[in-house]
Amino acid sequence: MDYSNEYLISEAKKAREHAYTPYSNFMVGAALVTESGKIYHGCNIENAGYTATNCAERTAFFRAVYDGEIKFSKIAVVGAPKGVEADLLTAPCGVCRQVMMEFCDPETFTIIMPDGKGGIIEILLKDLMPFGFGPDNLK
Ligand code: THU
Repeated sequence: MDYSNEYLISEAKKAREHAYTPYSNFMVGAALVTESGKIYHGCNIENAGYTATNCAERTAFFRAVYDGEIKFSKIAVVGAPKGVEADLLTAPCGVCRQVMMEFCDPETFTIIMPDGKGGIIEILLKDLMPFGFGPDNLK
C-alpha cells in the first residue's frame, strides 16, 4: 500500500485533534504505516508529572505493537500550538527516535513532516538517528 505524503500528513492532522495537552498546549499527531499497509494514529498525551508525557509518535507505535504489528514503513508527524495550522516543522524527539530504532529498519523507514515553508520533508531514520543503537547491537 503506497500512501502519498500529503495523505499521511492529513491523517496525522486528524490524529492531532485527539491530543491531550493541558500543560504545553502544543498538539502533535502521527500517522504510522505498517509494512502491511495499516495506518495507526497517535497523539501526545501529557501528564502533570511532566516526564510521564507520551509523544504522538510513541502513542502510535505502542497502539500498533499492542495489536501485534512490529514492522513499519513510514510515519508522518505534525505539530503546532493549539489553534495553529500544523504545518510547522516538528521533528521527532530523541526518545521517539530510539523507539523507531527498535521496530524499524533505519535504511528504509521514512519520517515525513511539513517543513514549515509550505513543503514536506521526507527523511530516512538512518539520517535522523546517525550511529543509532538498536536490536542489532545486542545480537
Ligand atoms: N511532542 C511530541 O508529541 N512529539 C515529538 O516528537 C516532540 C514533542 C510533544 C510532547 C509534549 O506533549 C509537547 O509536544 C511539547 O513538548
